[in-house]
Amino acid sequence: MHRTRIDLTAKSRARMTGLLNARLADAIDLQLQAKQAHWNVKGPNFIALHELFDRLAGELGGHVDEMAERITALGGAAEGTLQAVAGRSKLAVYPLDVTEGRAHVDALADSYARFAKSVRKASDEAGKAGDADTSDLFTGISRGVDKGLWLLEAHLQADR
Ligand SMILES: [Fe+2]
Repeated sequence: MHRTRIDLTAKSRARMTGLLNARLADAIDLQLQAKQAHWNVKGPNFIALHELFDRLAGELGGHVDEMAERITALGGAAEGTLQAVAGRSKLAVYPLDVTEGRAHVDALADSYARFAKSVRKASDEAGKAGDADTSDLFTGISRGVDKGLWLLEAHLQADR
């Protein structure tokens, strides 16, 4: 950990850095999954889904940056390389053979739900550890991810 004037203990900052790097890996993985869907989707809803997936990837990029810069603000090192992320992401591997729109929405919705759950848990953990700011950052991200999940699931729920 780098030295900093911030009024949080080095132990607490190190713990938050670990928590943030874990969810940073998921977020980078999820951003790439949304791009994968953006590039490869086909079918009658092509343009709507192609644009939705790109919008989601853009929003996830914002979350990625927020978490990475919270890590460095705490004196830690953000670990956002492809190699670091590949070994750490808790998301399911995104299928490479998917083309049809509904299958992409399904696969992405699964990843969104998994990510939202772990971010909510991270928010609780950060709050209990006494870092209200990191907790608040996670809370804001989980709110955004919940909204993204809604945008995806609305494509699946017309008949349910
Ligand atoms: Fe594009």
